[in-house]
This record gives sequence, structure tokens and C-alpha cells, in this order.
Amino acid sequence: MADPICKAVDIVFVRFELTDLEVQKEYLLHFGMRPAHETGNVIYFKGTGADPFIYTATKGAENRYVSSGYRVGARADLERLADHFNVDIVQSREPGGGEKVVLKDPDGLGVEVFHGVERTVAPTQQAPSLNAGFDKPRQNHLQRFGKGADEWRSHDGKLVYELTSKVMRLGHTAINIADPKRSMDWYADTLGFLVSDNIVLPDGMVMGGFMRCDLGDTPADHHTINITALPPEKLDAHGSFGHAGFELTESVDDLMAGHFHMKTVGKYAHEWGIGRHLLGSQMYDYWRDPAGFILEHWTDGDLLDASVPAVNAPARDVILAQYGPVVPSSFNLTMPPEKAEEVRKTDPSMSTLFL
Ligand SMILES: [Fe+2]
Repeated sequence: MADPICKAVDIVFVRFELTDLEVQKEYLLHFGMRPAHETGNVIYFKGTGADPFIYTATKGAENRYVSSGYRVGARADLERLADHFNVDIVQSREPGGGEKVVLKDPDGLGVEVFHGVERTVAPTQQAPSLNAGFDKPRQNHLQRFGKGADEWRSHDGKLVYELTSKVMRLGHTAINIADPKRSMDWYADTLGFLVSDNIVLPDGMVMGGFMRCDLGDTPADHHTINITALPPEKLDAHGSFGHAGFELTESVDDLMAGHFHMKTVGKYAHEWGIGRHLLGSQMYDYWRDPAGFILEHWTDGDLLDASVPAVNAPARDVILAQYGPVVPSSFNLTMPPEKAEEVRKTDPSMSTLFL
């Protein structure tokens, strides 16, 4: 393969157009993000990591996924992209500044590539000390997460666990597309992504894959993008956005806290989890936002450097996690929460396809 036009070093944010920013602001706070900036018709949210924002939405006429933002290491990367796609390098007027080029992938999804964005120094975090089986390093020290039982509060007679997850950063997106080879080649050629897993159907056809950033000797997340082919009628009905996966600051307790926060708040649609994926190995918990887009909390994912070759994985490895609830038929499809509830009742789970 020829050298890619550039090598993205990470994904940074997802951008949406939404009809109601107020309900989304409330959702994102419960989901565990922090407000970063707001103008009359644009909201920006950040995590505890170094990126100035990891989620942004503009008020608009419809609910629509617009683009994902990526970061490159040198201005020369932007120059090569601008030359190749015959687009301009433009100054970003959004939090963190920097310069960017705006591209469209083969399915028309926005891909914004940034350089020179001002990032903060993310605070370092003490890893939790876990006692397990034969290895019990925590002694004479009590395990407490947050304020312990004081995180529970009564709201109008209903008990709510108040501690949210602490979202750190965006780790990946999952997109549904028409032609897996075309899309995987485009992301490999344009952003330098490496294949971690090809997803292979029983007849040998590749239906998509998990791809990661090429950071050479430095390990990168197992996947920065997940690409899945869908038939045209499903793409027409649900669009291309599958989900966005946000990594948490602290490990499993952070995931569990967020789960029980969302659950006891009682306003939002749970999509899938808690479980541990097979491809990427991360523990996951998926929630559907009020506009119908799926956002994931995840922790403890695999890291691979560029030396690790691509693997051909059967499709069942995506659908059947290492453990967790059976995947619902609404998973990775954008639809309003009420519709998802209906679909889950009437359609068989995708996992039945692989039994
Ligand atoms: Fe994910």
C-alpha cells in the first residue's frame, strides 16, 4: 500500500445538529461531560482529558450527525490533505483554535482534521487499587468511590445515585456505510488508519472492520473507528451514525457509577450493557440520547502498536460480547428512544443470526 496522505494521531470530538440543545445539555451533564463553551446556538462539552471539547452540537432544523474531528501531529499533514482534496486550510474559531481542513468520507460524512489546537494538561489520576483473588494490594485502607453511600439522595421520594461517570475523552466512533472496502480504504489512505480486525461474514465477505491510529511504536486504542456495512434500506432509515464511544477517567467503578446514575435518574433509554466486548476488550455501557443517538461509556480497552497485524474476526465476535446482555436489535442504529423501545420488542436480537 502506498503511504497514506497523513497519519491522524487521535479522534477528538463528534459534531451534531440538534433541534433541542436544552434537553441535550441536561443529558450530557448526566452522561458525565462538562460544559466547555456555549454561544447562542452552539454547545461545546469537554471531558477530564486535554481536549478543549469532545462533543459539540449546533441548533438546527433536524437531528443529524455532522462530522468527527481528528488531530494530526504536523501542519504538513494538513497541507498534504488540502492539496490532495483541493480544499483550503481554514482557521478554527472554536474552543482551542488551531487550523483545520474539512473533508467528506465516501458516504458523505464529515471528517474534520485539526492541527495546532490548544490542549490543556490533563491531570494525572491515581489508578484504583483493587483486591483480587491472589493479589490483594489494598490493606488497612477502605475502598470508597465518590462519597460512598452519601451519593444517594432522595428527590421527591425517589432515590437517585448522584455521582455521574467522569467522561475523559472521545475514543472512537462507529459508522454504518454502504461499501466496507471503499470506506476502510479511504480511512487507511486518508488518515493512515491500520486495520485491527476485519469483520468477516460466514461466506468470507468482509462486512467492515475496526481500525486504529498508526502511532508507530506507541500503542494506540484498538479502534478509533468501527465501520459496518448496512443494506441501503437500513441506511436510508437510520443514517450512518452508529455510536460514539467516550472513555472514562477511572476504571470499572466509574462505569458502574454512571450506569446507576443514569438508571436512577430514570429519564434516559439504556441501549446495551454492561458487558465486555471481545474486539477491543473494553467494558461498555451504551445509552441513547434524547435525539436518538447512541453514546457509549467505556473503560479498560486494548492498546496495540503498529506492529500488530490485522486479524480476520467472525461477525459473531462483534455481536456476542465476552459477557454482557444479549445485544438488542436497535443497537448501532439511530432512532428516537420510543422507536428503539418498539424495535427491541418486535425485532429479534441480532445475536440470533449467529446462533
Ligand atoms: Fe464502541
